[in-house]
Amino acid sequence: MLALAAARPAAAGAAPIEFLACPASEIDALDDRFDAVLCQHGLQFFTDKQAAVLEMRRVARPGAIAVMSTWAAERPLGLFAPMGETLAELGVAEPYPRAFDADSYRLGAGDLADLLRASGWRDVRVQTVELDATWDSAEQAADTVTGTPFGPLVSALPAELQEQVRARLITKLGRSTDGVTVRTASNIARGVK
Ligand SMILES: C[S@@+](CC[C@H](N)C(=O)[O-])C[C@H]1O[C@@H](n2cnc3c(N)ncnc32)[C@H](O)[C@@H]1O
Repeated sequence: MLALAAARPAAAGAAPIEFLACPASEIDALDDRFDAVLCQHGLQFFTDKQAAVLEMRRVARPGAIAVMSTWAAERPLGLFAPMGETLAELGVAEPYPRAFDADSYRLGAGDLADLLRASGWRDVRVQTVELDATWDSAEQAADTVTGTPFGPLVSALPAELQEQVRARLITKLGRSTDGVTVRTASNIARGVK
């Protein structure tokens, strides 16, 4: 992801971006360096979430704003849920622990707020935001599996099993001439250092 991002041409007038590869629990930057922190759909995957949120605060300058999002634990997961269910039902081995478990992708609003507050962020607020993802057909929606972290796993399955994955996913998404809409819900936290 970082290599692809770094290879993209910078937009005219945009500030230069330096990409750093480091664990979220050990950010490779000095204290009080950044005007803002944005962590989009990453926090739920970090083994030590508290350490990561503390690190984000350490590298932020006093007064900096942090925004962190995760899928909302209070709502259905969206397209990743039927994908995970399908792969689990067909006996595909998890590529990493809890890969097919919807709860490993989500955090509750209260838990998210507690994480930020316990790490010293102040004026913490969490908002639940819904967005609909829409495809022209269930087939198109099912084919997006190739662009997810499950893509390499599915591509390596025998052709017959790949077809079963696709068919089952299409059934779960429902056949409709009006296309397919999957609602997503994120908890988005904001805090100030
Ligand atoms: C769903 S992606 C989100 C990427 C990006 N923020 C975006 O919105 O497109 C989650 C990312 O978290 C990264 N990640 C997971 N655990 C990590 C950790 N402990 N430290 C740093 N990055 C981690 C993964 O490598 C992956 O790139």
